[in-house]
Amino acid sequence: MDRARTGGAIALAGAAAIAVVVGLASSAQAATTLGASAADKGRYFGTAVAAYKLSDATYSGILDREFNMITPENEMKWDATEPTQGQFSYGSADQIVAHANAHGQRMRGHALAWYSQQPGWAQNMSGTALRNAMVNHITNVAGHYKGKIYAWDVVNEAFADGGGGGRRDSNLQRTGNDWIEVAFRTARAADPGAKLCYNDYNTDGINAKSTAVYTMVQDFKARGVPIDCVGFQSHINSGSPLTSDYQANLQRFADLGVDVQITELDIAYSGTQQANAYASVTKACLAVARCTGITVWGIRDSDSWRSSDNPLLFDNNGNKKAAYTSTLDALNAGGTTSPPPVSTSPSRSASPSPSTSPSGPGGGQGCTATTSVNQWQGGFVVTVRVTAGSAAINAWTVGLTLPTGATVTGTWNVTRSGNSWSNVSYNGHVNAGQYTEFGIQGTGTAGTLSPTCAGS
Ligand code: G3I
Repeated sequence: MDRARTGGAIALAGAAAIAVVVGLASSAQAATTLGASAADKGRYFGTAVAAYKLSDATYSGILDREFNMITPENEMKWDATEPTQGQFSYGSADQIVAHANAHGQRMRGHALAWYSQQPGWAQNMSGTALRNAMVNHITNVAGHYKGKIYAWDVVNEAFADGGGGGRRDSNLQRTGNDWIEVAFRTARAADPGAKLCYNDYNTDGINAKSTAVYTMVQDFKARGVPIDCVGFQSHINSGSPLTSDYQANLQRFADLGVDVQITELDIAYSGTQQANAYASVTKACLAVARCTGITVWGIRDSDSWRSSDNPLLFDNNGNKKAAYTSTLDALNAGGTTSPPPVSTSPSRSASPSPSTSPSGPGGGQGCTATTSVNQWQGGFVVTVRVTAGSAAINAWTVGLTLPTGATVTGTWNVTRSGNSWSNVSYNGHVNAGQYTEFGIQGTGTAGTLSPTCAGS
């Protein structure tokens, strides 16, 4: 035998052996399910679930093998949870939560306030009555699931399609432009531990609609409206295709100081194009440190709300599709950076010993406090703005007495001691001339308020 050829053959065999060893080594490390692989990257991989399908063994088998986050597809919506005003119905949603608890899965709540899937009685309401009903609904539903929800879609699909960049018209929108922030504040008061998300579709690239949402989130962060995350539904199809700025769009929201999540992913392409698109979305999430997870909107193609498009990761029989493999491969190959801890606010260990300062406009080195009241029949939200004077302050206390008959049911961004309302760890420092805000929610009438402010 020709020595050169023999040597070459040995070298090739050696290279092949090394390749096999490397292959074995990496496959030994690679996770074999979507949930486990996402968890390795500090993230989750979830799916929408319908309660009535949990008894289907194929469905539940895939669910419990592959997914570690669950979104009820319809069971937590307003029409399902409050079919008659003031009478709450949690049977199907509780069934899903119980399943998740039993299988170590976390829950995304969907959705507290939405123009669609309202019960008939709410569809027929307007103005103050509808605003009160929304607040009562959020208080009850988020309260019922307090401590059990990782993230709530507090408000769903509130922006209009097209190039206008404005709000979608709806009965909720017509109660006043502040309905979204009232919904978020109400949800925070009801379940302070849940991440609170705004969720929408056709916001998956940089466009007029996503920029309108971006501007709202920017404003909420500046004014202290409690928002923690933005959900990008990502119902991808030829009319709403995956665009090259998908990752950049996620990143610009993350840069505002919120988590981002892919919340309802399905892709109405087929074959390799579908597999590639799933991989691209997965890689984009992994590349954005604050992208905390991906949820697909159903398990098998036959479970999809648009099943004729075959847009999911498993076929009608529950077999893995090419899109499944490309998604798992992208997860396994993805970056190793985990999302950072929840809080982005600088934490301070100031021990406030506030000195009283003038409370009028431009109040020297202290601070001023002003209030704005959103009052409805039987309830209110007071937003208190604390503005630093000509020097920065590191701690503040607002004196604020509510009238007799007003009862505080929730607060945010503040710690209370009777009629004294003081900063929490992350909002004591306010630069000269800048402001921070906190909120008080209550029943009864807030009346005319005369706050004082002491800063140090
Ligand atoms: O349960 C009833 C059944 O009893 C009745 O016989 C049947 C007759 O139509 O309707 C069944 O309810 C349907 C329900 O899905 C459960 O299958 C509703 O009609 C139908 O409207 C509802 O559709 C849901 C849709 O939201 C409603 O807007 C889809 O399942 C759900 O996947 C879809 O999810 C939305 C997200 O919440 C928000 N983003 C978009 C996404 C896709 O549209």
